[in-house]
Amino acid sequence: MRFKSQRVAYYYFVVALLLYGLQVVFGLLSAAKYLGPDPLLHLLPFDKTKEIHTNILIVWVLTGFMGAAYYVVPEESRTEIYSEKLAYGQLIAWTLMGLTTVTGYVFGWTAGNKLLEQPLPMKVVIVLVMLAFLFNIGMTIRKAGRWTTTEAVLVAGLVLSALLYLPALIDFENYTVGIFYRWWTVHLWVEGVWELIQGGLLAFLLIRLSGADREVMEKWLYVIVGLTFIAGILGTAHHYYWIGVPHYWAMFGGTFSALEPLSFFGMAVYAYSALRRSGLSHPNRLALHWTIGSAVYSALGAGILGLAHTWPAVNKWTHGTLITAMHGHMAFFGAYVMIVLAMITYAMPALTGRDEEQSSAVGMWAFWLQVAGMFGMTMAFATAGIVQTYLEHILGIGYLDTQHKLSVHFVMLMGTGSLFAVGVLLFLVDFFFLAVKPRVHGDSRAGSGAAWTPSSAAQASK
Ligand code: HEM
Ligand code: HEM
Ligand SMILES: [Fe+2]
Repeated sequence: MRFKSQRVAYYYFVVALLLYGLQVVFGLLSAAKYLGPDPLLHLLPFDKTKEIHTNILIVWVLTGFMGAAYYVVPEESRTEIYSEKLAYGQLIAWTLMGLTTVTGYVFGWTAGNKLLEQPLPMKVVIVLVMLAFLFNIGMTIRKAGRWTTTEAVLVAGLVLSALLYLPALIDFENYTVGIFYRWWTVHLWVEGVWELIQGGLLAFLLIRLSGADREVMEKWLYVIVGLTFIAGILGTAHHYYWIGVPHYWAMFGGTFSALEPLSFFGMAVYAYSALRRSGLSHPNRLALHWTIGSAVYSALGAGILGLAHTWPAVNKWTHGTLITAMHGHMAFFGAYVMIVLAMITYAMPALTGRDEEQSSAVGMWAFWLQVAGMFGMTMAFATAGIVQTYLEHILGIGYLDTQHKLSVHFVMLMGTGSLFAVGVLLFLVDFFFLAVKPRVHGDSRAGSGAAWTPSSAAQASK
């Protein structure tokens, strides 16, 4: 850690990880309800557990992004954070908002469309906190008077995320119009501006972990950003096939969304070539695992599994089935969970004083159990989704009769989901108990702070 104020990242990561644990509990609960019996039916029915499961996901991933930005921006701009106090205040307001929102869901205080169900006062808090955050980051960069491309792409992603949240504040009378704009937030986040965040963090990590040349890495980052925008913006229309808008949208949706995997494949090739060129010998092997894992898993989950059902001729059958959940889980985990966990793992030695080389066995188990568990969960959702599509949409069997026949797949989901949950638990154990206390004084230790290169490592070992 080069700058003392980078320590605020630690507290963002603490909140993010606690919420991650809670999110997974609600995932298991939602899955268990498919199998029944459901003693919580009246207190917490499926719609509430699923709402809580997905909303906590969004809140904690955004918390992770903000923490990551507070770690990356000082290092890239080479200055302390403009106001540490504001950063802490903002975290407190954000956490209270998150907890109030989730508690509110239990009591049915909910508004708006799927994934954006936060009641209006909470939405206003979200906007204010985002503004405070962007102000703090903006002033930090201004104070330094310099920035890097990596950092600019990351910050652009964050600014655009805040802007794209604004349509969610409007309450549309007409359902079709409401759904039309809902995707401006949901789709343009995950298949647009969050990719800039992922790309920026990936570049940051690869430059440090592989020692790859910054100039080359940043040049290719532009290519990824370009591909994202070309495909992602009009690709929004792959959600417009069946909502009652004019037919020409289907053509746009089919064509442009089919190009979206290019930017995810681009990121995987990017990571692979950085390693090919510059080697794999960084001491923080755990961070390398999460970084490369994110590039590979998002290419699979978003790229391949997204492509699989994005064609109108396929989506006509699979729309709104468990095929969507299959893709949603692997894509979200690969792209956004894994990149946040990569940043946390990378920053952990500097933030906690833990030795870089001590990537503990527990950390490795946490990685492999989550990767394997998520793979199994994806397979369980996929098999369930294929059977569901066939029985319900092709044979015309009723929804509930179909669900009854799917229970074997939900047993698989519970099994693989439990493996996954153990992986998450081990990650938390590693972070909270095995790594040492947060470093209060920003005394710098060689390692995470400085850009790592094979030659610097060779020198250090001499
Ligand atoms: C990291 C990137 C991505 C994430 C996190 C993600 C996540 C999701 C989620 C959560 C949904 C369900 C949304 C809802 O119904 O509210 C969804 C739907 C969908 N995604 Fe993605 N996605 C990603 C990338 C992609 C890509 C690249 C494609 C196409 C190549 C794609 C194609 C689709 C389609 C067609 C649907 C609609 C499914 C339906 O009709 O029910 N996604 N995605
Ligand atoms: C033990 C782990 C987990 C289990 C058992 C689980 C289970 C579930 C279940 C049963 C649903 C409802 C599906 C439906 O609508 O029928 C769901 C939805 C969802 N989960 Fe999970 N989940 C887990 C972890 C995660 C993780 C780690 C993520 C993010 C990376 C995630 C993201 C989502 C999303 C985005 C949806 C909404 C999907 C859609 O609308 O189609 N879940 N989950
Ligand atoms: Fe989309």
